[in-house]
Amino acid sequence: MSDPIGRPGTPAQLKALRDAPEPGAGEGGFSSGGHRVVPGEIDLSHKVILYLEDITVAFDGFKALNKLSLSIDDGELRAIIGPNGAGKTTMMDVITGKTRPDSGKAFLGQTLDLTRMSEPEIARAGIGRKFQKPSVFEQASPQENLWLACAGRKGWLDSLRQRIAPGQSERIDEVLETVGLSAERDRPAGSLSHGQKQWLEIGMLLIQDPKLLLLDEPVAGLSDEETERTAELLRRLAGNHSVVVVEHDMHFVDQLDCPVTVLHQGQVIAEGDLATVQADQRVIEVYLGR
Ligand SMILES: Nc1ncnc2c1ncn2[C@@H]1O[C@H](COP(=O)(O)OP(=O)(O)OP(=O)(O)O)[C@@H](O)[C@H]1O
Ligand SMILES: [Mg+2]
Repeated sequence: MSDPIGRPGTPAQLKALRDAPEPGAGEGGFSSGGHRVVPGEIDLSHKVILYLEDITVAFDGFKALNKLSLSIDDGELRAIIGPNGAGKTTMMDVITGKTRPDSGKAFLGQTLDLTRMSEPEIARAGIGRKFQKPSVFEQASPQENLWLACAGRKGWLDSLRQRIAPGQSERIDEVLETVGLSAERDRPAGSLSHGQKQWLEIGMLLIQDPKLLLLDEPVAGLSDEETERTAELLRRLAGNHSVVVVEHDMHFVDQLDCPVTVLHQGQVIAEGDLATVQADQRVIEVYLGR
């Protein structure tokens, strides 16, 4: 089979994404479990969910990403590490369509060209992103936060007034269970611990049924126990989802027990298990030079 990577998303696929209803446009204002508009549309025939090739992003001449190439398999859990300013967040910005690369290729599956899709199209195609700071509605309970996440961009007060679509509350229960918040479902989210808020936010992504999850520093500021539980959660999510997690906490990365990619000055400088990359001379120099 010829390598289809490098082919733009077909016009029909891009049209399907553009024409797709907004999240929450289903009955009663909620989609019935997963608003990925074109489920199964991601072509995983090569088992690769994300493919970046020679991505360059320059800010006023400074190359935040410099011919970055990376490939993530379907169902894989991958940690991305690297010193401050290595380009980790910029990489996530490119994948989610927030930043357009100056050059290079970025594909979701074999055919969806991320460099030609808008941020909402990319989200609907199945990429969910968590920023470092939790952004849950503090006055609403975890359960209500998940309703709101289901409703997507619909006005959230409108959403609260609407009834729940069939299957929706079961899905909410399932996600609360997955992220370990069943017992906290009715408390105001503002009273949750920092770790619980992070898990709730992961739940708010999960309820949208993404194929690929991008998490930027999910354990910053968490207790040791919360960090451990987060690692356990992400390991559990892998398989059904592909998970890319950026983190500085090496103890956490060790607990993830997954392949590690090291970025430095916008490039990949090492890849392998944590012990292997930590023994790499370039990686040692980069970290010692901090
Ligand atoms: N919008 C922007 N304009 C100008 N420079 C930027 C912009 N965004 C990022 N940069 C620069 O690009 C480089 C990479 O930044 P990025 O945030 O991707 O690094 P990072 O690896 O996520 O770092 P950290 O570990 O500190 O979060 C940095 O030097 C940063 O200052
Ligand atoms: Mg960053």
